[in-house]
Amino acid sequence: MMKGKICLVTGANSGIGYETAKELCIKGFHVIMLCRSAEKAEKAKNEIIKTYPEAKIDQAIADLSSQKQVRKVAKEIISKYPKINVLINNAGAWFSEFGLTEDGIERQFAINHLSPFLLTHLLLPVLQQAEDPRIINISSDSHFHGKIHFDDVNLSKKYHGLRAYAQSKLANVLFTYEFEKRKTDNKLSIHAVQPGLVKTDIGLKHTFSFHGLMWKIRRLVGKSPEKGAATSVYLASAEEVKGISGKYWDNCKIKSASSLADSPVGAARLWDLSMDMCGIKTYFPQ
Ligand SMILES: NC(=O)c1ccc[n+]([C@@H]2O[C@H](COP(=O)([O-])OP(=O)(O)OC[C@H]3O[C@@H](n4cnc5c(N)ncnc54)[C@H](OP(=O)(O)O)[C@@H]3O)[C@@H](O)[C@H]2O)c1
Repeated sequence: MMKGKICLVTGANSGIGYETAKELCIKGFHVIMLCRSAEKAEKAKNEIIKTYPEAKIDQAIADLSSQKQVRKVAKEIISKYPKINVLINNAGAWFSEFGLTEDGIERQFAINHLSPFLLTHLLLPVLQQAEDPRIINISSDSHFHGKIHFDDVNLSKKYHGLRAYAQSKLANVLFTYEFEKRKTDNKLSIHAVQPGLVKTDIGLKHTFSFHGLMWKIRRLVGKSPEKGAATSVYLASAEEVKGISGKYWDNCKIKSASSLADSPVGAARLWDLSMDMCGIKTYFPQ
């Protein structure tokens, strides 16, 4: 049992994040569900408590597309919890249509990549209070089709939802690998996860009806969100994972990521760009 251990799960109100939060509650974690909507967070919390009344759940509310809100929620979390054992950067979105956040950043790059990059940085002081702190970034095998468009990271000249999604999921792997290289505290471990094709509503939320229909067909062969959560739950809780870090995982096993994900030059370049876009001067506390 993981009694007393605190795990923060972003995007915990639905799909893979919800199942991850539920499973971690059952394992005895104290779970903080970070959600965009207080109403959805409350509903998800009540559903878990209905099936598992002993669950220890708190909520944190933020729209992760806004760097101001990421900074605000991180401050709230740090003031409430002196120590966090596990951070699961799960929140993610898919947009058919091009759009920019209030910070002027393409939405998938902002939500899927920059928000975990910034949130992880901001929570490092409380993660480092844990004996075996773990960071888990939910990526996807879609990253195999992606590249980082350094000349136009917002894809403002040539946007397509799939191109933006693949770019953001490749960024998750590059972030994981580069974090591992640069980290100044060896007890921190970081992982990138491919959950598989999972029957969730991700492809229905901000999509044209045609893309929504395509997703409905595609997800027919997908696994359940519960199965999709299995690798994250394993990495958050398994004793044998202690000491392993900087890897890409699928079905609770390490596997190779794309050749672009293995490019140290690309990873370093993305790191510098992300620092700049988030206004971070020094990533690791000194
Ligand atoms: N489903 C798959 O086949 C699949 C495959 C590979 C990887 N993934 C990855 O798995 C993760 C979870 O996705 P899912 O399939 O479980 O989809 P989902 O059910 O739509 O869950 C996504 C979660 O992220 C939250 N979110 C989206 N935008 C947000 C924002 N701006 N601020 C805060 N929270 C936000 C959503 O909140 P709302 O409910 O309020 O929108 C939701 O809780 C994502 O990172 C996704 O890229 C999924």
